[in-house]
Amino acid sequence: MSEQKTVLSAIQPTGTIHLGNYFGAVQNWVSLQEQFKCYYGVVDYHAMTMPYNVKKLRENTWELILNLVSVGVKPKNLFIQSLIPEHTELCWIFNNFCSIGRLTNMTQYKDKSEKSSSESKDDFISAGLLDYPVLQTADILIYKADYVPVGKDQDQHLELSRSIAKRFNNQVGKEYFVMPEGLHTETPKIASTADPLRKMSKSAGEKHWISCFADEARLRKQIKSAVTDTGDTPAGEMSPGIANLFLMMKAAGAIEQHDQIMDTYKDGKLKYSELKEATADALVAMTSTFKERKAELSINKRALKDEIKTSSAEIRKKAQETLREVKDLVGLVNVKF
Ligand code: TRP
Repeated sequence: MSEQKTVLSAIQPTGTIHLGNYFGAVQNWVSLQEQFKCYYGVVDYHAMTMPYNVKKLRENTWELILNLVSVGVKPKNLFIQSLIPEHTELCWIFNNFCSIGRLTNMTQYKDKSEKSSSESKDDFISAGLLDYPVLQTADILIYKADYVPVGKDQDQHLELSRSIAKRFNNQVGKEYFVMPEGLHTETPKIASTADPLRKMSKSAGEKHWISCFADEARLRKQIKSAVTDTGDTPAGEMSPGIANLFLMMKAAGAIEQHDQIMDTYKDGKLKYSELKEATADALVAMTSTFKERKAELSINKRALKDEIKTSSAEIRKKAQETLREVKDLVGLVNVKF
C-alpha cells in the first residue's frame, strides 16, 4: 500500500455543479478514487479572495459537499479547507519561499485583478488574490501529492508549486517535498447548448448551463432547444452544437447509442431530433441516479455534515504531521501543547 500514489484536487465552493463541471473534472475525481489515495478539498479560503457574500459562502460550501457526494465522491476523501488550519499556516511559511514578482506574473491574477478593477467602483484587489497560488501550493504539498488533476489553466500554478518546493528543499538541504505533477486526463469539454461556441458556465446566464440535478422536464427542454447550426461550419465538418450533443451522450455512458447514431450521421441520414432525444435520454438516466442519491442524503443533512467533519479531522492528521516536520526543518520552535 505504501506504493500507492497520492492525488489531490480542489474546487471552490460555488454550490451547484453543472454538466460542464461534472464531465470536465468531477467524473474524473470519482474514477481516480479506485486507484489512488485521494484528497479532495472544498477550498473556502480561496473563495474569499474575490468580493463574496458572507452568508452564501457557508451555504455554498455545504451545498457543494452535498452535490459532490451525490455524484459519487466518497465522503472520506472530502475535506473543507478552513477546517484544516495547517493549510494557511503552511501558506505563511511558503510565502517566504516565493517572490512577489512570480505572483504578480500569474495569468489568473492578472486576469482577475484587471476584471475586478474594471467592474467595481473601488478597484479593490486583495492581498489574498495575489497570494492565492501560495495557498494552493500548501493545499498540494501538505499531503505530498504526486498528482494534481486540474485543467491546463492551472499549469502555471503547478509550476509555481514546484518552484516553491525546490526552494524549500534547497533551503533545508533535503529532498523533503516531492514535485507534484498535473494529471491531464482527457476530459470532455462541454459547451453551452444555447451557444456551442462558448463553454458551459454559470456566469454566462441561466440558459448556458445544465445542472447535474435538473428536473427531467427542464433538462429535456434545454437539450431540445440546443443550437445545432452555428452558421459558420465548413462543409463536411460537424458543427460544434452537434459535436457537443454527441460528446455529452458518450460521456453519460450511452456508448452503443452514440456509435449507432454517429453511423447514421456519417451516412447523412441523421435527424437532429433523434440525436437530441437520445442525448436527453442518456442525461436523464445519469442525472436521475444523482438526484436519487441527493434526495437520500438530504433527508439527513446533519449526518452528512458530521461525516465531513470527521473526514476533515482524519485528513487533518496528515496535514499536522507534515506541518510538524516542516516547522522542524525551517527552524521554528516546535513545542507540543
Ligand atoms: N485554483 C484552483 C481552480 O481555480 C482551485 C484550487 C485551489 C486547487 N487549491 C487547489 C486545485 C489545489 C488543485 C489543487 O480551479
